[in-house]
Amino acid sequence: WLSHEADVAAILELKKKRNAVILAHNYQTPEIFHGVADIVGDSLALARKAAEVDADVIVLAGVHFMAETAKLLNPTKTVLIPDMGAGCSLADSITPEDVALLRQAHPGVPIITYVNTSAAVKAASDICCTSGNAKKVVESLGVPRVIMIPDEYLARNVARETDVEIIAWHGHCEVHELFTAQDIRDLRDAHPGVVVLAHPECPPEVVAEADFAGSTAVMSDYVGINKPARVVLLTECSMSDNVAVDHPEVDFVRPCNLCPHMKRITLANIRKALEENLHEVTVDAELVAPARLAVERMLAI
Ligand code: 13P
Ligand code: SF4
Repeated sequence: WLSHEADVAAILELKKKRNAVILAHNYQTPEIFHGVADIVGDSLALARKAAEVDADVIVLAGVHFMAETAKLLNPTKTVLIPDMGAGCSLADSITPEDVALLRQAHPGVPIITYVNTSAAVKAASDICCTSGNAKKVVESLGVPRVIMIPDEYLARNVARETDVEIIAWHGHCEVHELFTAQDIRDLRDAHPGVVVLAHPECPPEVVAEADFAGSTAVMSDYVGINKPARVVLLTECSMSDNVAVDHPEVDFVRPCNLCPHMKRITLANIRKALEENLHEVTVDAELVAPARLAVERMLAI
């Protein structure tokens, strides 16, 4: 904790010196989320707020696709990610060539890409979505069929809630795909009355047995509004740690799965990023306009 305190103090100083802001995803550890972040949230909130940032430098405490999205929305600002290796199994599951083949196979069908993708995949798609607005985006297009990439489970979970036909890809989140419906039954047996919240990247049979499903921000809001006596968040481990800080009266049951990509970000490498301007995230010039358009179409909804 002593070294944490030194890192926190140094980061707060460096933020002033460099006119920098830190955007942190809900899966960042509490010392980042509560200790040094200026803006926190789910992927949708981070994209929305990135578009409004008034600073010279943005440090994205999250994974690479989030930093790319921030850069697309702030082309003249310096966007840093403390560890370039912070990837995502969903983003890795699909290439722009795959998207081109999907378009060929389904002519005229719009392609909705989850924000958990590279800028190149966004550029090859028509519009983005996040887990917080996926159903809205699908229904906004006014068509009977859409292609939704790359998360198969998110696509199937949204398909249960809409009449629009959804053609899915076969990507999965390596964190959320590990939860099973049996986990939920075991949790209910072991912790009577527990309210089960699941992220829509979980398999459909998990979402079906949960009490409620939503993005990380929606889960956090659910706890704040409903104040369940006992709750479990079927998602990444830091979520409960961060939400619990604001709700000491709620009993958080904490089986969870760690995201190794999110966990690459630490106070130490955030400090180093600000000290040494590491690692600058850029987007290839020819991808900027089409990828940004896909993000902006989503933000306009
Ligand atoms: P949200 O925060 O948008 O729900 O996304 C979860 C996630 O897995 C981001 O990597
Ligand atoms: Fe990607 Fe899943 Fe990690 Fe989110 S939790 S960054 S979707 S691997």
